[in-house]
Amino acid sequence: MNTLEYIEKNKDRFLNELFELLREPSISADPKYAKNVYKTAEMVKDNLSKIGIENTQLFQTKGHPIVYGEKIIDANLPTILIYGHYDVQPPDPLELWESDPFEPTIKNDKIYARGACDDKGQFFMHVKAAEVMIATNQLPCNIKFMIEGEEEVGSENLEAFVKKNKNLLSADIILISDTGIISNDTPSITTGLRGLSYVEVELTGPNRDLHSGLYGGAVANPINILCNMISSLHDENKQITIPGFYDDVEILSIEEREFMAKAPFDLNAYKKELDIDDVYGETSFTTMERNSIRPTLDVNGIWGGYTGEGAKTVIASKAYAKISMRLVPHQDSQKITKMFEQHFISIAPKGVKVKVSPHHGGEAYVSPIDEKGYLAASKAMNDTFGKTPVPVRSGGSIPIVALFEKELGLKSILMGFGLDSDAIHSPNEHYGLFNFFKGIETIPLFFKYFSE
Ligand code: BES
Ligand code: MN
Ligand code: MN
Repeated sequence: MNTLEYIEKNKDRFLNELFELLREPSISADPKYAKNVYKTAEMVKDNLSKIGIENTQLFQTKGHPIVYGEKIIDANLPTILIYGHYDVQPPDPLELWESDPFEPTIKNDKIYARGACDDKGQFFMHVKAAEVMIATNQLPCNIKFMIEGEEEVGSENLEAFVKKNKNLLSADIILISDTGIISNDTPSITTGLRGLSYVEVELTGPNRDLHSGLYGGAVANPINILCNMISSLHDENKQITIPGFYDDVEILSIEEREFMAKAPFDLNAYKKELDIDDVYGETSFTTMERNSIRPTLDVNGIWGGYTGEGAKTVIASKAYAKISMRLVPHQDSQKITKMFEQHFISIAPKGVKVKVSPHHGGEAYVSPIDEKGYLAASKAMNDTFGKTPVPVRSGGSIPIVALFEKELGLKSILMGFGLDSDAIHSPNEHYGLFNFFKGIETIPLFFKYFSE
């Protein structure tokens, strides 16, 4: 039996097994779901054991467990290490979901559920591809799995695990499906990820909430001030004003930018899909550049004061914001976090106190397009899509990928099958059946070409 015949014969079972995983709310950020996260890890492990992966185990961490498994057929053959994550983002806001986020539903040939694309649907393609290869006797090399449960919260414990288990994780390449393609008829391979620095800021004005009539105009309002401070972080060219912020930014050559501009992109369709009348961003860069090779600073949430029904006249004592900076190659996330902190404290006027607390972060990543791993992915996708995939630098982050390179000396091939329109992290996240099965079909070819 060949790959396609095997997939066709087992299609429904593959989907049912994925649905079982999707039903479990493995929300890593929320301690209330720790049991569900644990149960999901056990289910992933059982799924691996069931298809003939050996030495399957859960590695406990200070947080959620890491699922490991391997099939070593010959120590002289290459080893491909599969990485993925079984944890998901919280489903909020719940009221905007058209179906239960944890009851997978197929509509218009897409699977709707939290994690359908990011990343349960995608890492599970590798589990099923491994099943296909083992069951049809075509596994051409060794395979290892490392599926973690803390990607969406910064992979802190995986970092410690990787540093401690270099032998266990020894391999020739890491293969990851946790990114996307341009469209179902324009395949692409992700050749870069941005880094991340994430901080939370707290401004304190008066020691208690005040009547905005009795005190208004005479004391600093932390919400007003926070808005001023945040808006000063960009200048009229939409560049970030933190001194030194751009010092280490990788500058691409004209040739590289011209090469990037060749990737298909339809600005009108982009605007239409988002229902915006224009795009917005740093002067002198295209939309595709702004969202991939340039660093950014965004407020992710801002709160304080009265936000309930009706009007309450109040000057709040405190105001808060969560701010993320996407970083590009050569920027150091810890250095940037320090820079932000110093600058943000320095621009606060008298009358407020500022506290900056760093969250998780990580470094950017770039992968070469002339090495064996990339070429194997390119050939595999070319076979299944009938077109050579386009190399594309993504704006998203998977911080652990740079760490894999640093600690294990391994490059990662980012062969994802999602679409930007899959609504990952948003309500109504979904994943196309086409993409799920295309992935299962493509992965064995990657194994074949990489082992040749
Ligand atoms: N899979 C995504 C990252 C991604 C998606 C990269 C699409 C490229 C294309 C990953 O799960 C994710 O959401 N990463 C977070 C960072 C993490 C530290 C929370 C991100 O990019 O915000
Ligand atoms: Mn992901
Ligand atoms: Mn994610």
